[in-house]
Amino acid sequence: MPEHCDNPIVKKYGQPQEIRAFMEYAKTGLEAYEKAVFARMIKNDDVVLDLGCGAGREAKAIAGTCSRVYALDLVQGMLRTARDIVPADNVYFMRADATYLPVRSSTMDVILMSKQFMNHITVLEQRRITMNEVYRVLKPGGSVYLTLHNNLFNIGIVHILNSLYKILDAKRTSRKPAQQNTGNNGSTNLSSLLAGYFILRPRSIIVNKYRRTASKIIKGYSGNEAGDWDISQVSDAFSPYKSPYHNYTFKEIASLALNAGFRIDDIRDIWELSHHRTLPKFIRKGAFIISIVLKKA
Ligand SMILES: C[S@@+](CC[C@H](N)C(=O)[O-])C[C@H]1O[C@@H](n2cnc3c(N)ncnc32)[C@H](O)[C@@H]1O
Repeated sequence: MPEHCDNPIVKKYGQPQEIRAFMEYAKTGLEAYEKAVFARMIKNDDVVLDLGCGAGREAKAIAGTCSRVYALDLVQGMLRTARDIVPADNVYFMRADATYLPVRSSTMDVILMSKQFMNHITVLEQRRITMNEVYRVLKPGGSVYLTLHNNLFNIGIVHILNSLYKILDAKRTSRKPAQQNTGNNGSTNLSSLLAGYFILRPRSIIVNKYRRTASKIIKGYSGNEAGDWDISQVSDAFSPYKSPYHNYTFKEIASLALNAGFRIDDIRDIWELSHHRTLPKFIRKGAFIISIVLKKA
């Protein structure tokens, strides 16, 4: 049953479809880039905090490689599923909001915020608070791993692919009258396609000048800060609830981390197979994400 709460994260991730999908995803284990980073970062006697643990994918994979895992999520349904599928007895689940961590200062060796957890924090002040909280609970010498959807990736590539797909899909379904109408709006898709095209040319002066305007005309734009958008644009086949989303630039995440007191150990772009399920598999190849390792001196 859906959880009853006005919080858009709880509404979206509390949906049975979301929980089932993350349960399936948890079975696939770590992404290749996570395996490489976690193997370097996590030692046998480490205490690890997993923020936005979902159905326990990371906790399940790392439980045998460290001393203890504290896995935290806002959504009860996710935690319930995670408890079922993570058999290890050194994993402790907590229901909490990551912006206010119920954890003592300087107690964690490693903190994981993989799989774009921080993209869900759409208010700038809360992003600052979260970074400060993460810094507070990390031991001196400890490390943090984050991945984030890149601003450029989502408002560019995904919107182009998504609108192209929907235009093609609308054509296909209009040829089959018996099939249910998908509700696609051709002209909105076209403006989304054009906006995506312009946004994707970052070196162009014209594009930089009109970047903000372009992002506003994209269907689904919901925020008032550059980078905010509505994830339902690409996940509406999957969950009936909208959830705001904030995409990052290198500059924003670097300044959040540095202001909290972190040293940036590594920051890079990586590509992964996107989980945007409204797109067919063959065009889901290029999710452009930022991968970062932070250290506390
Ligand atoms: C994209 S899912 C990733 C789940 C898991 N890390 C994985 O890779 O399978 C993001 C998770 O973050 C959780 N989340 C989002 N905002 C949160 C917050 N402020 N506090 C705690 N959990 C949050 C959601 O409930 C969801 O389970």
